[in-house]
Amino acid sequence: MTALGGRELVLGVTGSIAAYKAVYLLRELTRQGARVSVCLSAHAREFVGALTFRTLSGHPVLEDLFDPRSEDAVEHVALAERAAAIVVAPATANLLAKAAQGLADDFLTTLLLAGRCPVLMAPAMDGGMWEHPAVVANVATLRRRGVVVLEPDRGALASGLSAQGRLPEVEAIVEALRAVLGPRDLAGERVLVTAGPTREPIDPVRYISNRSSGRMGYALAAAAGRRGAAVTLVSGPTALTPPPAATFVPVETAEEMREAVLQHAEAATIVVKAAAVADYRAQRPAAAKIKGKRDLTLDLTPNPDILAEVAARRTGAFVVGFAAETHEVAAHARAKLEAKGVDLLVANDVSRRDIGFDADDNEVLLVDRWGGARGLPRMPKVAVADAILDAVIALRAAHAAPKAVR
Ligand code: PMT
Repeated sequence: MTALGGRELVLGVTGSIAAYKAVYLLRELTRQGARVSVCLSAHAREFVGALTFRTLSGHPVLEDLFDPRSEDAVEHVALAERAAAIVVAPATANLLAKAAQGLADDFLTTLLLAGRCPVLMAPAMDGGMWEHPAVVANVATLRRRGVVVLEPDRGALASGLSAQGRLPEVEAIVEALRAVLGPRDLAGERVLVTAGPTREPIDPVRYISNRSSGRMGYALAAAAGRRGAAVTLVSGPTALTPPPAATFVPVETAEEMREAVLQHAEAATIVVKAAAVADYRAQRPAAAKIKGKRDLTLDLTPNPDILAEVAARRTGAFVVGFAAETHEVAAHARAKLEAKGVDLLVANDVSRRDIGFDADDNEVLLVDRWGGARGLPRMPKVAVADAILDAVIALRAAHAAPKAVR
């Protein structure tokens, strides 16, 4: 189960030009499996119509608490009890003030008073307002009460000013929400994750690599951090931003990755090797750019098998490997699990374009060294990451700690 999968959420939208971004947020929350009821303030309806939210959420939009014909009038109590969290995005200065004072003059503010679940607010407002003493005091009051109020982004605002006041990016809001909701079941663990491709130089401008974007490994690092672990992320070159709390170790080649992994593996309690390490490197990379149009033969030499080495050397860490396969995935996964001596192997079919390399989603087979095998349906990599960590926790609980050397 992911932090968001199957969770019932309320998305409150208030009257800001950034209200349209709440549509993208809603789409992402539902994509990650949340059931979302949207609650619009009267001003928000001036910016985006209720029909858009109703269509995307699949639920009626909650609008008017005081319309006697509306069933919404009693719904706020039931919803306040059911909701796993309330997210207000965008949260205007007006909404922050009302929430800080405990006013309840519409559906959303009443829900905020009635609810006992975590509340996350993503503010958006015009230049200078965020720094106004009244807003600063209201935000401090809300934070003291346990409300998570995100910092708005800095940049160009609708008024033309450039200041801190932009609604945080959808990914940042979702990540904060997952942190608010997620279990802290990896607190005290030290998790080492590898991600991305390696680059093996041919000459100063060319290299051997592969299509790994790093998304799978970064999702694992973010999930482990969210769940309370101290995370070290050893990553080949990617376009991604590492999770802010992780210790980040950038590398280029397989040799560099090996060195970094062996250095950090000793302290790790869980090692997850999602990186796509190049199996071969050029035997003798050229010192200068290779010129000319003649045929060229490149002599390759195998790279060290980092995963097998970590598994052989570990003294108690739980080791998870990946397997990138194009056919007979289950048979190859079982063989790789045994050859590499890992506890859990996560196999994916990299012949498909919709999963595996450079895709948002993955569909994996989990094979463990105690004979278990379980296929997971296609889902976003953030959800796959949580499922892998769930499997690690369950396997460790069910079986004795792995032996030092097998
Ligand atoms: O990065 P993304 O775009 O999100 O794509 C995700 C992914 C497809 C890269 C990921 O899901 C995945 O499958 N990672 C492993 C890719 C790989 O190298 O698979 P492999 O079957 O060649 O290697 C098996 C295992 O040995 C892997 O854990 C790998 O990290 C490790 N290995 C491989 C070679 C080597 N020299 N040293 C290693 O440690």
